[in-house]
Amino acid sequence: MSILRTHRNMNLPSFMLCCILAFVTSHVVASTQYQATKLGEKQSFNNDWLFSKGKQVGAEQANFDDSNWQRVTLPHDWAIEGPFDEKYNARNGGLPFHGDGWYRKTFTVAEADKGKVVSVTFDGAMYDAHVYINGHFLGRRPFGYLSVNYDLTPHLNFGNTKNVIAVSLAPKDLSTRWYPGAGLYRHTWLEINDPVHVAKWGTYVTTPEVTPERATIALETKINNQGDQTNASLQTQIVRADGSVVLKKSIDLGKLATGTKTVNQSFTLEDPILWDTDNPYQYKVLTKVIRNGKVVDKHTTPLGVRHIEFKADDGFWLNWRRVQINGVCLHHDNGPIGTIANRRAIQRKLEIMQSMGVNSIRTSHNPPSPELVELADEMGILLQVEAFDVWKIQKQSVHNGYQVFYDEWHERDLRDMIIQHRNNPSVIMWSIGNEIMEQAQKDGWKEARHLMEIAHDEDPSRFTAAGFNNIGGAIKNKLAHETDIQGFNYKPLNYEQVHKDHPDWILLGSETSSITSTRGIYHFPIDKYKVHDSRHVTSYDIIGPPWAYPPEIEFEYLAKTPAVMGEYMWTGFDYLGEPTPYGGKDHSGDGYWNADWPVRSSSFGAVDLVGFPKDRYFLYQSQWTSKPMVHVLPHWNWPNMVGKEIPVMAYTNAEEVELFVNGTSMGRKVKGVDKAELPVNFIRWDTLGQKNWKSGYRLRWDVKYQPGEIKVVAYTDGKVVAEEIVKTAGLPAKVELIADRTEIDADGQDLSYITVLVKDKDGNICPTADNHIRFFVEGAGEIAAVGNGNSSTIAPFKADYRRAFNGKAMLIVKSKHGVAGKINVRAYSDQLSNEPIVISAK
Ligand code: GAL
Repeated sequence: MSILRTHRNMNLPSFMLCCILAFVTSHVVASTQYQATKLGEKQSFNNDWLFSKGKQVGAEQANFDDSNWQRVTLPHDWAIEGPFDEKYNARNGGLPFHGDGWYRKTFTVAEADKGKVVSVTFDGAMYDAHVYINGHFLGRRPFGYLSVNYDLTPHLNFGNTKNVIAVSLAPKDLSTRWYPGAGLYRHTWLEINDPVHVAKWGTYVTTPEVTPERATIALETKINNQGDQTNASLQTQIVRADGSVVLKKSIDLGKLATGTKTVNQSFTLEDPILWDTDNPYQYKVLTKVIRNGKVVDKHTTPLGVRHIEFKADDGFWLNWRRVQINGVCLHHDNGPIGTIANRRAIQRKLEIMQSMGVNSIRTSHNPPSPELVELADEMGILLQVEAFDVWKIQKQSVHNGYQVFYDEWHERDLRDMIIQHRNNPSVIMWSIGNEIMEQAQKDGWKEARHLMEIAHDEDPSRFTAAGFNNIGGAIKNKLAHETDIQGFNYKPLNYEQVHKDHPDWILLGSETSSITSTRGIYHFPIDKYKVHDSRHVTSYDIIGPPWAYPPEIEFEYLAKTPAVMGEYMWTGFDYLGEPTPYGGKDHSGDGYWNADWPVRSSSFGAVDLVGFPKDRYFLYQSQWTSKPMVHVLPHWNWPNMVGKEIPVMAYTNAEEVELFVNGTSMGRKVKGVDKAELPVNFIRWDTLGQKNWKSGYRLRWDVKYQPGEIKVVAYTDGKVVAEEIVKTAGLPAKVELIADRTEIDADGQDLSYITVLVKDKDGNICPTADNHIRFFVEGAGEIAAVGNGNSSTIAPFKADYRRAFNGKAMLIVKSKHGVAGKINVRAYSDQLSNEPIVISAK
């Protein structure tokens, strides 16, 4: 039985007893013991942290009284459990992310490890971290999106004497344009190394020459000696995916002085297996450090051998073939679990994107978690890794944005971002900024040149881009001339001219479309509106802010200009915050976007906040995939529309589609020929000055509504290749659970995403159902979060209940650390039948 449910059903005295017990248990936090494990292994440092919100005087001191702090396991996002409140900015998700917060952890390190080098890495700390060990200040890092490593050794106790590591954080209001999360929201690691070891992020591997027959591998290795002068040598192996060694070399370093030594090696690999999007084959580099004849460190560097090329007249080439960038921008939050860098949550996000046809991701507008980059390596996804949303000049009303830290920190932050991700084959380019205000500054190019020099210095092997929304400005002040790749945000109409004017530029649609929609919502008639009373957005894929345009306008202009390598559509998933078209204006007086509360998250996603595809997902799938598909919209439950006309649209990658309404054909339409008229003026995009946009990428029929069914049949070469049927659903009769994974790891991190469907007695999803559903999760798992994709609700994500939204909800179940066994899951809704499901934790 979940704790939340227990609380709600309890009377007051037993509730108080429970709180007292919780208080008592938080008292007895044992200090965790660490000792060196396998060579080169980083140990999770996520367990047994204590957390407290608010200012704490003296909390950096080892003997500070933290007995009433909350016990947490990292990664931890202190704001995601809310509560949502209008007093917080809807632009940032309406969640309590800003203010001070502290984390402390007590631990010991084995006596046997005295003389070793002990360090901790925080993969992300939101925001402005100050880190202390046993009262000593170790360092500060304002930017929350990077990994930072702290050497604890000089102030560390070994043996039974306890150590206390303390971290203070101070995310600020009006500091970002989206939900940033709060706290130690990514993983934390402990490393215990010999004084002689490969430096943190101390290897850099590139493949300067790649042909189908052979590849040269260049490897730079930094060796740290934090002890006295000693004899040392290095053994390097190139290892295949199956573990066999393909190449090896040794170097005698002679007498290694205290300090850092850089070693360069090169290898020639015959018949390399290439890393590619459909076969992301990875080698690895295994570096062994030998001191006085004994192996004292082992270090692994990922290695993918691939040939990449950007051609000014023909886009992006991977392994000697042109690959169109079918990309999406993604913010870093993972919906109902917040910004927590949960590997499974990120993997699932990428799987859903791949199923839509995505082959590339822009990590808008900041460095990603290491997990995202590793998964992209494994899954064959190309990445543009972006550094900043702002440089020196403030954007809109974001008064406490990164500009405050820029002068002091930008160089370290940019260098660290590149150093941390430059060995990953998935990364094909960097971005130094998104829509930076310097585009409009006379001297803007100088800052761009400076950042480009840093990027080239850390990684001469990759090109670096920026995303321009003010292309007139960026071209005039020559900022755009400084980047290797010129990224344009929302400017498909300019591609051809820019390519003519600058035939040597490498062009990218760095941000495109920005159409908004709410899953399962349709408004009649189809029309352009700024905001709708429902505080939702119609899913006919036509509504967006003034700079937005339907996906197919981008498709059409990209097809006309193959020099442009492709696009990063805004966005793959809905994200927390930026509730456009609701909420407010960029320059609203107080910077708050709460005019349409409770709209508190974005509608830009092709997929909603919990991972359910919207119609737009299928529009992209029709353009980006080749396995035959057809999708029809809207749903077919319109009791108030009987006899009235409803626009029906189909998205397909086949040649023709025929629509049947209750068995009667409404005629076949040919894609690209029978264009669908969208009765909406996209003022900035319609070169021909036509009133309506005619889309060659979707098919449209206007039919009189009668309950029953609509069916679309797709044909290629005259043969049926796909079909979809949508039926008028009856009253809700049952609630059904479908787990994406019925077996998860019992590691306290792994997740099962359980789709919750409200269906009628015949098994049709009820497309407008909003039944209240209660969840019971028992055994070896617990509820991580719930959600339903409704961007306009303040129902909490951490709860054992949720209303369905347009027939669907999501229950996210997490395993318990070290508890194997069955997880019994049941969903209960008044008057509806239900079937429990079982998940096992192994
Ligand atoms: C872009 C911006 C994005 C997002 C988007 C919404 O201009 O780069 O971060 O705000 O607009 O359409």
